[in-house]
Amino acid sequence: MELNKDLVIKLRDLYGDAFYLLDSYQFKKNFDEVKRIFSSIYSNFNIAYSYKTNYTPKLCKIVNELGGYAEVVSEMELELALKCGVLPKNIIWNGPIKNQQKLEEYLLKGVTANIDTLDEAEYINKISEKYKVVLNVGIRCNYDVNDGVISRFGLDIDGDDFLKVLSIVKNSNYLHFVNFQCHFAKRNVEYWPARAKGMVALLERLNIIPERIDIGGGLFGKMEDSLKAQFSTKIPDYNDYALATATIFADYFKDKEFKPELIIEPGSALVGDCMKFVGTVKTIKNVRGKYFATALASQKNISMTGVNPPIHVIHMNEGREYADMDIVGFTCIEGDVLYKGYNGKLAVNDAIIISNCGSYSLVMKPPFILPNFPVLDISEDKIEVIKRAETFDDIFQTFNWGE
Ligand SMILES: Cc1ncc(COP(=O)(O)O)c(C=O)c1O
Repeated sequence: MELNKDLVIKLRDLYGDAFYLLDSYQFKKNFDEVKRIFSSIYSNFNIAYSYKTNYTPKLCKIVNELGGYAEVVSEMELELALKCGVLPKNIIWNGPIKNQQKLEEYLLKGVTANIDTLDEAEYINKISEKYKVVLNVGIRCNYDVNDGVISRFGLDIDGDDFLKVLSIVKNSNYLHFVNFQCHFAKRNVEYWPARAKGMVALLERLNIIPERIDIGGGLFGKMEDSLKAQFSTKIPDYNDYALATATIFADYFKDKEFKPELIIEPGSALVGDCMKFVGTVKTIKNVRGKYFATALASQKNISMTGVNPPIHVIHMNEGREYADMDIVGFTCIEGDVLYKGYNGKLAVNDAIIISNCGSYSLVMKPPFILPNFPVLDISEDKIEVIKRAETFDDIFQTFNWGE
């Protein structure tokens, strides 16, 4: 459905003056495109979708239907994966802290847990000996990818703990070693070859070929030119990441009989461009010579700070031209500026459409000042309510109200 004035009026009538629009069709296209591009270089490839980035069940189910895996970092996300029908063998559990009781329960179901510390390896080993059943484990690896960060995640591959964990896994009768995994947060593609080279060097040094090699997420997704222009470096595309990594694995394994499954764990790259936020201009005023438009929308809804998001206005009225106007949010935070220095026509009741709101937005919206707005999917010629509007009761039912 095309988002035009008539549709905005209809959606406002049904769902209120602010809502998210999910584009599940674009999400499917992104998944297929990433899969096709990486597989064309290294065929044994799969995607583990990072649930934390946007755990909307519809998206999680799409990944499962398309044959992808679930990458989860908490027992909450793991429960969600199971509820979405993901088979335990297709769930990868990362995360620095895993609830011990749940770890036992889910390992016994067949989930793969990536070990992050020596203590965790010892604990998992005890579980396997208690039940005398095979448990799937991986090891999260930490090494330098020249991004200037000492990551807190995983085991330093040059440290003693790494060797101790490896020895626990190798010498156990029950632990089934599935993969080495790593994840580095910086998205610039120049850090990506080091991920792959670090893994290859590790395999060489240990003379191990695991079933899977998982090189994590942290890819930029698609974005409008106006957003790209606000970054100091060129925004890579899927192809750039594939060339930077899959080629290294294709080359290393070309003469080897066994080619492990290569996995990446994208979140933003799949979902970033799959959500828009639609808000409404509620007031316009001038304070000491500066114009402010306050919208029913907030930085808290879109989790985008420090940039002007891609914005598009659907005019409801004639309005007038403004220069250097700030479009600000409904919260009482002075810095809740959605768009700095807007130049153009605007009027009260106009709709503000903010793109690229798919990642770390909905999942990071606090119940601050207002409950969250609904999520609708209009990408496939019908209006589907993906998440109803939150209510007063949704927020306050967990509090003790006293007598
Ligand atoms: C282990 C792991 N995998 C994947 C991701 C997804 O990252 P992104 O959304 O940047 O692709 C994250 C994000 O923090 C992560 O911690």
